[in-house]
Amino acid sequence: MSILTRRHLLRHAALSATAATPAGAVLGTAATGLGGCEPGDAEDHTATAPSAATRLHFPPDFGWGAATSAYQIEGAAKEDGRGESIWDTFSHTPGRIRNGDTGDVAADHYHRYADDLDLMRDLGLRSYRFSISWPRIQPDGTGAANQRGLDFYRRLVDGLHERGIAPMATLFHWDLPQALQDAGGWESRDVAYRFADYADIVFAALGERVPVWLTINEPKTVVQNGYLFGHHAPGHRDPDAAYLVAHHLQLAHGLAVRALRATGGTGRIGPAFNLHPCYPADDSPVDGSSPAAEAARLYDGYENRLYLDSALKGSYPADVLADLGPDSRMVRGIRDGDLEIISSPVDLLAVQYYTPIYVTSAGGTERRWPTSEAEWQQIYPDGMYDILTRVTRDYGPIPLTVTENGLPTPDVLAADGTVDDAGRVSFLRDHLAAAHRAVTDGVPLESFHVWSLLDNFEWAEGYDQRWGLIYVDYPTQRRVFKRSAHWYRQVIADNAL
Ligand code: FCB
Repeated sequence: MSILTRRHLLRHAALSATAATPAGAVLGTAATGLGGCEPGDAEDHTATAPSAATRLHFPPDFGWGAATSAYQIEGAAKEDGRGESIWDTFSHTPGRIRNGDTGDVAADHYHRYADDLDLMRDLGLRSYRFSISWPRIQPDGTGAANQRGLDFYRRLVDGLHERGIAPMATLFHWDLPQALQDAGGWESRDVAYRFADYADIVFAALGERVPVWLTINEPKTVVQNGYLFGHHAPGHRDPDAAYLVAHHLQLAHGLAVRALRATGGTGRIGPAFNLHPCYPADDSPVDGSSPAAEAARLYDGYENRLYLDSALKGSYPADVLADLGPDSRMVRGIRDGDLEIISSPVDLLAVQYYTPIYVTSAGGTERRWPTSEAEWQQIYPDGMYDILTRVTRDYGPIPLTVTENGLPTPDVLAADGTVDDAGRVSFLRDHLAAAHRAVTDGVPLESFHVWSLLDNFEWAEGYDQRWGLIYVDYPTQRRVFKRSAHWYRQVIADNAL
């Protein structure tokens, strides 16, 4: 393992991605039927109040959405036969989560889902991305389905349809059944096959009612936060294990895609990757041969191409494999046929964008832009444009959905019952403008999901960070539309920024 990689592994946070895309290059002109776009609209990402003439109109039927995940909102940790997940274990381990918070109650969505569905309707959502809790379906990670767990998601999905909202279900958003962790977790190849069994159960129960499936949420975050830095469950710090985990997560993804195809249903499916543009910190050309550009390229390999290339091209990036070395557990763990499984054709790619990364010639990172309350997040809307156009350029015109974008803000419920999260409004406006610019340049983006619908349990940060469009007053579980929710409702109604 090279010095560069060791630096990469030791660096603090988790993100990154690609070379900056020359604006407007390669993708050709808009093929997406945008209306009302004046020349120069692309520059409007800094505007605060676009006039009617400069409004950014989105394609008809654009899927305006919001996202959540099971452990972050559901609560009801011990109800209706739910088993334990690694996040129950981790959050109950002293010192792991800020303020000792856990997801035991969270936003109590398990009990309040019907009211939450009404809030989604009031917001005007057209798409809702949620995740299914594996330990609700198979409490020990294997064997027969727990019908009460399936029933909850059936009620949720039916409630979405009743309100005209398209369900988008993620099969795995990090809450691995603890029993499978005890059997080796994602270091064990067998867990990928257990995931396919679980997917089979879910598809049999809900396959007809869910038009879009996502397999695994952010495998990179499991690899990095769960196995390199140890600040997410299961809390390991073992680089050699981390990349074997990456391979098994990718294998699990491919097996789930095949499981859906085997049902013969019409549902669409794809992976959900958090992608982060990686730029040379010295501003040298991204495709150049400066030390910073070369370091940024390897960074990009670990952050983006490892997942994109294997799922969409059927190969792991040669630079990453060489850097890991032939004796690494990952390289030794790749078996004949695995990459065919991993690259089973998908219907769409889900992109989650939060931050860029600036890579120095020494393989470290530098901060270039102001951060949000999440210190790993630099606020850089153009990164949204760069990553969307890069994916289309390098991987072809696969339909894209943005399944997460957002930021935490210091929200306070005022005495008059309002929550003024002006920072979230300008963040979302700027990122949506960047996404719009990508669409104008030919990116086949079909939907956009704000992270998150509700304030929720933000993993190691507990309830300290508020990421929702909707404020949750945890002591009472009262929900309050923040200013951003009112704003987003209008954007959706207008189909325009
Ligand atoms: C993503 C996760 C999501 C949430 C946001 C802030 O990495 O997928 O659950 O924590 O970050």
